[in-house]
Amino acid sequence: MADRTLLGIVGSVSADSRTRTAVERALEAAADAHGVETELLHLADYDLATADGRGIDNYEGDTADALQLIVEADAYVVGTPVYRGSYSGALKNLLDMVPRGQWQGDVAPFENAAVGLLATGATDHHFLAVDQELRPAFAFFGAHTVGGAAYATADHFEERELVEEPVRERLETLGEATIELAAAIDKSEALGSLGPAI
Ligand SMILES: Cc1cc2nc3c(=O)[nH]c(=O)nc-3n(C[C@H](O)[C@H](O)[C@H](O)COP(=O)(O)O)c2cc1C
Repeated sequence: MADRTLLGIVGSVSADSRTRTAVERALEAAADAHGVETELLHLADYDLATADGRGIDNYEGDTADALQLIVEADAYVVGTPVYRGSYSGALKNLLDMVPRGQWQGDVAPFENAAVGLLATGATDHHFLAVDQELRPAFAFFGAHTVGGAAYATADHFEERELVEEPVRERLETLGEATIELAAAIDKSEALGSLGPAI
């Protein structure tokens, strides 16, 4: 699994991001357990265009760089802050630019890919945003999301340090599970070819 690249996507535009801390925890655990390469796409570091359907080859600069990271990765850990009970608009904008092998470009990076999901929120009221909002977005792409998600609240952090041990451990398991799912997909002709229904 050492030649696999796991990309962490942080759907927050805050430079000082709790979500980034959580995603990094999952990436580090995956790298430690399985020797994978990791990359980070934190939306605070990219000045992205607004999605307008122009197709992946027509974006330039930061937007092209961000999309290239996604296209080149093999598996993903995707984290979002909860905004209004859902995932962030910045992440939605990014997802709106990722092709699924049709008119927006002939690549489909999320199709049949392993994706681990997590969110951070102010409180635990909106933990289902991961399953009811973010997971369906990846179902649209025909991704294989890891069944259990991770969720962290403000109480789990001191400043930006994640201090709640069970949450840290869950994030680590999520990172490892994402790579183990990617390996299972590689071994299975069916899992590697299913894709979206339409
Ligand atoms: C516009 C906005 C909307 C938010 N909506 C919610 C929400 O509906 N539920 C919630 O639990 N937290 C909400 N929050 C709090 C953030 O989800 C929380 O602080 C998160 O950990 C921030 O992540 P970040 O540090 O990675 O940006 C909201 C924050 C902002 C700025």
